[in-house]
Amino acid sequence: MTSAAKVPQIVLNDGNRIPQFGFGVFQIPPDDTAAAVRTALELGYRHIDTAEMYRNEKGVGQGVRDAGIERDEVFITSKLNNGFHKPDDARRAFDATIDALGFDYVDLFLIHWPLPTLYDGDFVSTWKTLEEFKKDGRARSIGVSNFGIHHLEELARDTEIVPAVNQIEVHPYFTNDAVRAYGLDHTIVTEAWSPIAQGDVLDDPVLGQIAQKIGKTPAQVVLRWHIERGDIVFPKSVTTERIRANIDIFDFELSDDQIDAITGLDKGVAGRRGPDPDTFDWIPK
Ligand SMILES: NC(=O)c1ccc[n+]([C@@H]2O[C@H](COP(=O)([O-])OP(=O)(O)OC[C@H]3O[C@@H](n4cnc5c(N)ncnc54)[C@H](OP(=O)(O)O)[C@@H]3O)[C@@H](O)[C@H]2O)c1
Repeated sequence: MTSAAKVPQIVLNDGNRIPQFGFGVFQIPPDDTAAAVRTALELGYRHIDTAEMYRNEKGVGQGVRDAGIERDEVFITSKLNNGFHKPDDARRAFDATIDALGFDYVDLFLIHWPLPTLYDGDFVSTWKTLEEFKKDGRARSIGVSNFGIHHLEELARDTEIVPAVNQIEVHPYFTNDAVRAYGLDHTIVTEAWSPIAQGDVLDDPVLGQIAQKIGKTPAQVVLRWHIERGDIVFPKSVTTERIRANIDIFDFELSDDQIDAITGLDKGVAGRRGPDPDTFDWIPK
């Protein structure tokens, strides 16, 4: 069986399906993105996670075309950049995403950050604008990223469509379980960003011992842990051997004790690598 055939599909709350495993392109330089995406697709990946902020959406579209993969065989996510939360700006930004990818729809479009200290704290009208993109069919599904429980509660109070996903920082040093649990209770699937904490967790002795015991690498063990917890993951790599190894995690399982040992590495907020969504207010120049 090919790697792509082994990746489970998750059914979102709007009925659409998403491959549970994919390829992230954060920090891949625009000029290198098409080649990296093509390599990933050739190695069986069928889900690509990009963002306007990464400035490499054009390379993602080009990589899909270069690989000769039909558009409906690959799941593509992009995200609204922080400077464009006002409805008219969001509409223009979404048009630019569609143009840059060179396709007429995205599978999933997210609000990248809630930015509660900007725009008078209003991410609700931004979300209502994403609802337009879902209704006109150019975003098959819509969701959010870096939303905490209180941000999600505010959306639930004031808007119609429940986000299909919430893409948040999750890895063994920051398991983010309260936000994950809220998602589970409200049909919002968690996507775990920086799933290997950009490499920081890989030297942990607990992971090293498990990896040695089952004959896998620490990265494969961590990625498998995410899969068994039910989250969606899309590790980033520009290294062909790592791209190949990262998806090779569908021929083994972790025991309950191994899963618990990895979850037990959580350091709470001290383990966070990225910004705090309650205070993050960066707008790219
Ligand atoms: N929504 C958000 O705010 C947000 C924030 C961050 C990330 N994301 C998404 O999540 C994706 C993944 O997160 P990330 O890129 O931050 O970090 P990551 O996937 O946890 O780690 C990527 C880093 O780990 C290295 N690496 C990859 N596979 C490896 C392996 N098997 N062994 C050793 N090192 C390995 C890569 O190096 P090489 O490339 O040199 O091989 C790269 O430096 C992003 O690409 C993006 O799509 C979203």
